[in-house]
Order: sequence, then structure tokens, then C-alpha cells
Amino acid sequence: MSDGNRIVVVLGSIREGRINDRVAAWVTSQLRLHGFAPELLDPADPELLPVQTGDPAAISTLRARMHGADGFVIVTPEYNHAEPGHLKTLIDSVTAEWWARPVGLVGYGGISGGLRAIEALRIILAELHTVTIRDTLSFASPWRRFDEDGRIIDPDDAAAAETAMAVFAHRLRWWADSLADARERRPYDREDN
Ligand SMILES: Cc1cc2nc3c(=O)[nH]c(=O)nc-3n(C[C@H](O)[C@H](O)[C@H](O)COP(=O)(O)O)c2cc1C
Repeated sequence: MSDGNRIVVVLGSIREGRINDRVAAWVTSQLRLHGFAPELLDPADPELLPVQTGDPAAISTLRARMHGADGFVIVTPEYNHAEPGHLKTLIDSVTAEWWARPVGLVGYGGISGGLRAIEALRIILAELHTVTIRDTLSFASPWRRFDEDGRIIDPDDAAAAETAMAVFAHRLRWWADSLADARERRPYDREDN
């Protein structure tokens, strides 16, 4: 039996002054509380930014950081009813690293709470042989809800988010452990499909 602990948390925004860091800080601290070992993957990292123009060295770095992950959590804003374009480019730049992995989706935005970005990502991620977790986390107007350190300011809001996270983490745990077991027993081979 394998432990699917290594979760790569992918940030969705590279915008100057982004809210993304606050939401991702909360998500990673919660994943730790639920027994995972989260690692941040920031598309604005200077080593990864050239992925946007197909730079081979940057894509190698991206692949190395994703390699061997037990699962992913994407923390994305919604831009015009979908995921940001640079997040799509990052996702498209890698193939086998995604295969047979679970992906949890956390969205945020204006009134939508990022839900349309989340649903747009499911279609893309299915093409990359991932399993997206049914349960999601959604934050409308996160700039009012998270402090600079990624803490949810209002205690009732924090309690509700922690309850939603408990369900999300429970499902992510099942898929991450189960797919780690399955990959150990039988390597995932796209040509078998
Ligand atoms: C180009 C652009 C388009 C946006 N479109 C939407 C949208 O369709 N729905 C929504 O709820 N919020 C939308 N927003 C609001 C963003 O989700 C919000 O500003 C969020 O904080 C951006 O994340 P970031 O600060 O981490 O980049 C949009 C923001 C930008 C910059």
C-alpha cells in the first residue's frame, strides 16, 4: 500500500499583486493539517516563466518539479469565465507527469468564486489522463476574506472553508493513495487505451 502524500500545488496567476498567494497559502497549510506534503509550483518563478514561450530548459525544470507527484491541487482565479491563459500553457507543456494522477481544483474570483474556471479545467485535465476530484473549493471576493498571510479573517467563514476542505482532502487522499497503489501494480501506459 502506497501513501500518496506528495501533492504539487499549482498557482494559477502570474499577475502583479495577485491574490493567488494568499489563497494558496491557506490551501497548503490545510493540506499539511490533513497529512499531505504540499509543494508550491509557481508559474511566475523566473525559472518557470519561460515555459510560456516554450523554452526547453524551463519545460525540463517544470517536468522535474512535477515528476513523481502523487497528485496536484490547482489554485486558480477566473479570468473571463475560464482559467488564465498562462495556466493553460503551463498545463499543456507537460504530458506524462499528469497521467493517472488526481487533481483537486480550488477557484476564486468575483461573484463566480472561480467555479467556471474550475469546470473549464476539468475538460482539459481529462485529456491529460487525470482524475479531477468531484468536490471543489470556491472563494468569491477573496480579497475581502484572506489576510496577507493567507488566513481567513472571519471565524465563521474560516470554519465553513475548513469543513469544505475536510471533504476535499478526504477525497484527494482516497484518489492519491489508490492511484499510487495502482501505478505501483501496473504502470500507466497511454498506448493501452
Ligand atoms: C482579465 C480578468 C478577467 C476576469 N474575469 C472574471 C470573471 O469572468 N469572473 C469572475 O468572477 N472574476 C473575474 N475576474 C476577477 C478575478 O478573478 C479576481 O480579480 C482575482 O483576484 C484575480 O486573481 P489574481 O489576483 O490572483 O490574479 C477577472 C479578472 C481579470 C484580471
